[in-house]
Amino acid sequence: MKKQFISLLLVLGAICPLAAQSGYTPTEENLKARQEFQDNKFGIFLHWGLYSMLATGEWTMTNNNLNYKEYAKLAGGFYPSKFDAARWVSAIKASGAKYICFTSRHHEGFSMFDTKYSDYNIVKATPFKRDIVKELADECARQGIRLHFYYSHLDWQREDYPWGRTGRGTGRPDSKGNWESYYRFMNNQLTELLTNYGPVGAIWFDGWWDQDQNPGFDWQLPEQYALIHRLQPACLIGNNHHQTPFEGEDIQIFERDLPGENSAGLSGQAVSRLPLETCETMNGMWGYRINDPNYKSAKTLIHYLVKAAGKNANLLMNIGPQPDGELPEVAVQRLKEVGEWMSQYGETIYGTRGGIVAPHDWGVTTQKGDKLYVHILNLQDKALFLPVTDRKVKKAVLFKDKSPLRFTRSRDGILLELGDIPTDIDTVVELTIG
Ligand code: GLC
Repeated sequence: MKKQFISLLLVLGAICPLAAQSGYTPTEENLKARQEFQDNKFGIFLHWGLYSMLATGEWTMTNNNLNYKEYAKLAGGFYPSKFDAARWVSAIKASGAKYICFTSRHHEGFSMFDTKYSDYNIVKATPFKRDIVKELADECARQGIRLHFYYSHLDWQREDYPWGRTGRGTGRPDSKGNWESYYRFMNNQLTELLTNYGPVGAIWFDGWWDQDQNPGFDWQLPEQYALIHRLQPACLIGNNHHQTPFEGEDIQIFERDLPGENSAGLSGQAVSRLPLETCETMNGMWGYRINDPNYKSAKTLIHYLVKAAGKNANLLMNIGPQPDGELPEVAVQRLKEVGEWMSQYGETIYGTRGGIVAPHDWGVTTQKGDKLYVHILNLQDKALFLPVTDRKVKKAVLFKDKSPLRFTRSRDGILLELGDIPTDIDTVVELTIG
């Protein structure tokens, strides 16, 4: 009988893995923060750690099987003499981005903040001795931009992190690690991050997938998520696990693909009703890579941002700062170019949601109140058909100079007459709908 009961529990556990995590009700502050997050639409991701010194991206430790004790010696030479939080934040703000997501600790295991729980951190292990997270947090508060923290679940450096499918060649002695000790460590660090640095917009987890070949591995996320929400109820939790969101998460994250697309092979999961965010890099890597000058053009970046908005998602665009503490010059240039566009067209992006006309090859629509913004990114024709049937189109103007556009109505929608107009990066038509 007892046996049967246990097997019933096991079966139930297998078919509804979320059962144990149920019961999360977001607070009012949290729901408000979700709205604001969606309104903000655009953030800048910063991947910075010791790996910037090796200048081959943030995965270099595992990709090159670098010994963890040797790798740790990088810290003794890390002195980003040109780091200036004020300059970073100003350059980022100039792009029109409304939040920054910073790698507080990436897979390499080095903490970019002062932590009591490991001396392997920016203050205690480097000659620089400055708490970068603190300087950034203070500057973000000063300049009025939100700060999010990326936090890696996996760790290639710590001996207590149980081996996953990456980081196996870094020389850590014990494949089993000590989960209890590691879990406690993470929660202690998260407590520091959520206590010592003011309001945190989001915790952005990454690395869950490292244990996907260890059946039954339990990350104990519900307790961790509850801890975060207890410390800061408005802090949004996102996890880059490439799955549909788990209970307790407040946003859904996509990597290198817009929701519903899967060209990078990391997506394909169902699109949830939570606020959405897609992250992408300005060049090809997250962490600084010296031989990757392949930056996307301003036009490509703007198109990506507009398409994300049209799919009801935020864009988190990544930059890998240099080991000397500066943002790469091309990245700063791109921030400026995107910002120039946003200063003219921000109204058609911020505060909008995906529009009633679904994305097409020609572009997307965004919507706010009685305005439907038609973003024409790619159109050769002189006219554009829009299947708007539920709402009445009262007026059509070109957004940039409000000059009226002619259109004809039919049962299936409207036909906009564009003439020779669509030559801009994004030709935006503003429709007033009733
Ligand atoms: C991947 C990578 C990681 C990067 C992240 C950003 O999960 O492991 O290096 O930080 O994507 O989306």
